[in-house]
Amino acid sequence: MTALTVNNEPVQYAMDPATPLVFALRDASNLTGTKYGCGTGECGACTVDIDGRAVAACQITLAACEGTFVTTIEGLSRDRGHAVQQAIIASNVSQCGFCIPGIVMSAAALLRDDRDPDEEAIVAAIDHLCRCGIQPRLIDAIRQAA
Ligand code: FES
Repeated sequence: MTALTVNNEPVQYAMDPATPLVFALRDASNLTGTKYGCGTGECGACTVDIDGRAVAACQITLAACEGTFVTTIEGLSRDRGHAVQQAIIASNVSQCGFCIPGIVMSAAALLRDDRDPDEEAIVAAIDHLCRCGIQPRLIDAIRQAA
């Protein structure tokens, strides 16, 4: 058993401790907002918050998450009320939407640490792959959220 806290709820996973966190979240907890894309830590679709840091959930094992506090897109806010979510909705940024949860988690982590990030910091924080080409509008939306 691996014990951690997910979205403020204690959870025990009876899975191989070597399982990447993304599969525990999606398959055992049905938290499917955390997407699985590349599986190599490149795309950012699986980004969650672990103890205050944006982390690719495909690159960390359950064993490494023992005792941590994990927040997924489902736990970030109620009713999409986080400032980043509101700015993305208001700006109509999202297209296919697959990458958006991971981007929101990274942007939320950025704004928690830096209330007024410059463009360079935003670009660095949302260094995720998106085939829809939304990055310029996304940067504007994150600026609005800040
Ligand atoms: Fe984890 Fe792409 S699925 S970074």
